[in-house]
Amino acid sequence: MARKKIIAGNWKMNMTPSQAVALVNTLKPLVVNEDVDVVFCVPAIDIIPAMEAAKGTNIQIGAENMYFEEKGAYTGEISPAMLTDVGVKYVIIGHSERREYFAETDATVNKKVLKAFEHGITPIICCGETLTQREQGITIDFVRQQIKIAFLGVTAQQAATAVIAYEPIWAIGTGKVATTEQAEEVCKAIRDCICEIYDEATAETIRIQYGGSVSVSSAPELFAQPDIDGGLVGGASLKPDFGAIVNYNK
Ligand code: 13P
Repeated sequence: MARKKIIAGNWKMNMTPSQAVALVNTLKPLVVNEDVDVVFCVPAIDIIPAMEAAKGTNIQIGAENMYFEEKGAYTGEISPAMLTDVGVKYVIIGHSERREYFAETDATVNKKVLKAFEHGITPIICCGETLTQREQGITIDFVRQQIKIAFLGVTAQQAATAVIAYEPIWAIGTGKVATTEQAEEVCKAIRDCICEIYDEATAETIRIQYGGSVSVSSAPELFAQPDIDGGLVGGASLKPDFGAIVNYNK
């Protein structure tokens, strides 16, 4: 069975709640494509207003982060139950910006992934190498290690429902998109790694996105690759461009 594409916007730290409502209203007629699952991952404070604005559309609202404990003295954090209570079904875990600025590690990513599954939230698990790692020729080894740790303790049944976002750090926000060949090579290596950890069926079911300067012009070729099941889109998800990206195959 063919995998359904999943194209997600990552708003990062952009859009106040009122701007979020306006953006959802602008984008909702543009992001209709029955071949694609469409997710807007938004700042925590925007989740509820964005959900209200997206009601009755094909847009699903996701979160950009979540803590791995149930509740308690963790000032500033958002719990999984807070997300599920308002209907959140997707959460980005381990984005490179969270690893860089907020000290997330492969180990905390794994804890968050396990917690998300425990609550029935689909994690969008981010991985990707730095420019130095690419130049050293260790991209695939590095990404395989990130994946192996992220999936420790995850069952095959859970893994099959996960989303992995391969985002080379050097391509994020730089306008420097990976070539189609580079993106496909790593996404295929990730799928092979999932096959090694689990089995063929899990590897064939899991969805793997590419992220990093995805644009209207680069999306069609990237998303046509056999191992690229959509994208995680930063800057272009805040603009009407996102409509054209979601409709990459039309
Ligand atoms: P850009 O699309 O702005 O490069 O961001 C990619 C990204 O980090 C999505 O998570």
